[in-house]
Parts: sequence; structure tokens; C-alpha cells
Amino acid sequence: MTIAKLKPWLNLAQSNQFAIGAFNFNTLEQAQAIVAAAEVENAPVVLQVSHNALKYIGSGNHRQGLRYAAAIGREAAQMATIPVILHLDHGTYDEVVEAANLGFSSVMFDGGDLSYAENIAKTQKLRQITSELGVTLEAELGEVPKPGGSESEKDGMLTDPSTVSGFIEETSVDALAVSLGSVHGGKQKNTSIDLPRLKKINALANIPLVLHGSSGVKDDEITQGMQFGLAKINVATQLNQAFTNAVRHHLGQDTEVVDPRPYLGAARKQMQAAVQARMRLFGISGQAG
Ligand code: G3H
Ligand code: 13P
Ligand code: ZN
Repeated sequence: MTIAKLKPWLNLAQSNQFAIGAFNFNTLEQAQAIVAAAEVENAPVVLQVSHNALKYIGSGNHRQGLRYAAAIGREAAQMATIPVILHLDHGTYDEVVEAANLGFSSVMFDGGDLSYAENIAKTQKLRQITSELGVTLEAELGEVPKPGGSESEKDGMLTDPSTVSGFIEETSVDALAVSLGSVHGGKQKNTSIDLPRLKKINALANIPLVLHGSSGVKDDEITQGMQFGLAKINVATQLNQAFTNAVRHHLGQDTEVVDPRPYLGAARKQMQAAVQARMRLFGISGQAG
């Protein structure tokens, strides 16, 4: 198959109260783990790559990182029997333009830290460009703190429901990332999201909503959030934990190993299991038809 479109899956997920999992990759093995999980679960999947991952993949050159990521996504989608969506996660303005031209079917413009007016202005321009290319556009209103961001600053970054309708009207985005109290990079599932705030936002927004920083959020609150418009759920840290724990375990067991394939292979398997578990929680398993 070619790289699949995200928008129809977002709409289906929102109307049926399940969510499509959007899983971050930093390495080839991680991309393979995500697609292998989707094959076993018979689920559509969002293979996503962040601004920081592009820098890593391109050895410091984001543009080269984008080209590698586009090639990985294209080949993965072509070999897969389930829909594979290739999404740019937390992109800058220039990266969004470039990704849309390189074959990514979906992009997120990370404008959450801009002023409301600047976020709208840049998102509007990107809406024009992405519409012409048939690419799904996700924007952010409010900000989910970056890994290492302080817990105390997050209250001031929550999405203000009174700004939601105006932002959507002005920008015509396909999906909106909202800030509900989650924080990127959580290593334990002990964070609560502001469900009353989500309910208000969902009543005002007529488009699918996106949860960032899901790794630290309590599972029962994720599933409750899916009843109130969360239709795309981003997962990174939980997968990195599974991957890295497997490497650590393998190297601890075999201190003489020099070939990376045994421990990267074990990590790939472990991460696949973690992705499958998330897919089942999100209710997306079996939805590929
Ligand atoms: O939201 C981004 C994900 O947590 C990925 O983290 O930006 O360090 O790649 P990263
Ligand atoms: P976590 O790393 O907390 O899972 O967040 C993922 C994310 O939001 C990617 O955009
Ligand atoms: Zn994020």
C-alpha cells in the first residue's frame, strides 16, 4: 500500500470513541516494531517522527533526517497489509512544508509556545500549503510541557476552552492537540488529565482531539478521554522504556556481546509487544478491516 491518509481514520475513531495510536520512532528497529505490532493487531497505525528524532536520524541535519524518515515510512507502508500513516510530530514551520512535499500524509505544526495570534497566522499559512497537497494538519493550542519541563509550569499551559472555537474557525485544522495536564516523557503512569476541561473543549470543537504525553497518564483516564473526543494518542516514552529495558537486560546477561543485532532484535520484539498493548487499550485492534 502507499502511505495512508490520517483524516478518515481520525473521523472514524472520533465517531466510534476509539483512538488511533501514534507511535514515535527514532531508529529503523523502532519503526519496524510499530508496523509489526499493527500487522499482528490488524490496526491502522501512525508512524511518527519528532523534530528531535529527525535531528538524530539525520546526524544533526533535520533535512536529511526527514528524507530518511520519508523513505522508511514509504517502504514500510508499501510492504504492509494494514494502513500506515506517516506523520511529522512537533514540526517547525519549515519542516512541516518539507515533510508535506516529501510524502508525509500528516503533519503537526508545533505552535503551542507561540502567542495565540502568531500560532494562528503560521497555522493558516500551513493550512493552505497542506490542503493543496492533501496532507492532514494537526495544530496545538496550549502546550504540553516538553520532557524535563517542570510540573509546576504546566497549569499555565493548559488549553483555554474559550479560545478553541475561534482557533479552529480561523485555521481549519483537521485535528487539535490540547493540553490537559499531561507532560511529555512521563516514566510512571501516575498523571491525571483534566477531564472536565476536555469535555468543555470537545463540546466546542467539532474536530478530533489529540493527546500528547500519554506515557505518564493513567490508563483509565486515557480511556475516559476517548469518550470525549481524544481520537489520536501519541506514545513515545513508554515505547522507549520497553526498547531500552530490553537492551539493558540483554547486555547485562551477556557482557561479551559485540554484535548489536541480538540486543537490538530483542529490543524490537519488546517494543512491538508494548505497541500491541497500547493498541488494545485504544480499541484500534481489528479496525483495519
Ligand atoms: O512529543 C515528543 C515525543 O515525546 C518524542 O520526544 O522530542 O525527544 O523525540 P522527542
Ligand atoms: P510521551 O513521550 O509522554 O509518550 O509523549 C509522546 C508524544 O506526545 C509525542 O508527540
Ligand atoms: Zn508530543
